[in-house]
Amino acid sequence: MDKQGLERLFQEKFSSTPRFFKAPGRINLIGEHTDYNEGFVLPAGIDKYCAIAIAPSSQEKTHVIAIDLNETCEFEKIPSQPIPSHWMNYIWGVMKAFDKRGLSIPPFEAIIQSDVPVGAGLSSSAALEVVFTKAFNELFEFSLSNMEMTRIAKEAENDFVGLQCGIMDMFSSVHAKQHHAIKLDCRSLQYDYVQLQLNDNKILLIDTSVKHQLASSEYNQRRMECQSALEKMNVEGVVANSLRDISTAQIEKAKHLLSEVEYKRASYVIQENIRLEKFVDAIGHSNWQEAGQLLHASHQGLKEQYEVSCPELDFLVEVSKKIEGIWGGRLMGGGFGGCTINLVEGHKIDQITSAFSAAYLSRFGLVPKYYIASTGDGACEY
Ligand code: GLA
Repeated sequence: MDKQGLERLFQEKFSSTPRFFKAPGRINLIGEHTDYNEGFVLPAGIDKYCAIAIAPSSQEKTHVIAIDLNETCEFEKIPSQPIPSHWMNYIWGVMKAFDKRGLSIPPFEAIIQSDVPVGAGLSSSAALEVVFTKAFNELFEFSLSNMEMTRIAKEAENDFVGLQCGIMDMFSSVHAKQHHAIKLDCRSLQYDYVQLQLNDNKILLIDTSVKHQLASSEYNQRRMECQSALEKMNVEGVVANSLRDISTAQIEKAKHLLSEVEYKRASYVIQENIRLEKFVDAIGHSNWQEAGQLLHASHQGLKEQYEVSCPELDFLVEVSKKIEGIWGGRLMGGGFGGCTINLVEGHKIDQITSAFSAAYLSRFGLVPKYYIASTGDGACEY
């Protein structure tokens, strides 16, 4: 639905004039499961947005409509616990994070319309958190910085929704810039925009249609495994605040202190940070072959060492190695489902998608969905 459509609907439902905000979903080129280990990530905002029309309300109750789901939620008080799987949890989480800062959100009316695919690993939930954070900040004139808004949106997910995610998704949705990826140091939060000059190449996302079911519990589990690997290594002479501080030589030396699982998780994180640096260098030199190999190596690590893949994702990556015109690909985001991200030659897209469709259909009985990712700007009023 376009802005006019949203405006008409808003006036019909609430008889007032709203303001409009939007926040993008994100892709991540490389640097997976590194954000909560204080490492580096390389995300970019996409031109798919979660948009809202919103206005303060004179009623006691807040009223939110999610038009894509055809659902409405009315409430006076934020529940003390999240309601399992409810989309409002993300907004309540944001309101609570504002509240914690002494900034209470008065009643409001809002309509949400999102074209960020849900469950595809494109951070539709971060886009929802960020768009409300941005809207509250502007509507109620809190004057918070982009960094503070990023923190609020992350807190919503960590403290209310209950996923101990890192900062990458919210950071990208706030700070994204068209035609650029963001190289973010997740410790200092310093970042550089990396121009995405891909020549004829395109970023092709292939959606397995597998919803990441185990994702939340397994995700929190991975965090704990990384933490315990770090603590064990710190015992013997290594002084590190995070896995980011550990070198390949150090982990090899400390291997005997770790369980097999801890060793695999920590090794993956250390190697993924190294791969990211090489990847930035490769795309800077238009070395697509090297960039593609690094994507494949990242997937291998996510599959074998970090163990966050699934048969459908592995299949898509294996097939990608056999199709002409693909430089490389890997699972993207938390894992256990969602999309693979592939760097492909643009003029071969049609042959590439037909080859994937035929292979996936014969193996899993369905045709995957494709998105050619174009980059977009971060959260804004529009
Ligand atoms: C999810 C989390 C992010 C990040 C990725 C994996 O998208 O929300 O913080 O950890 O998984 O890289």
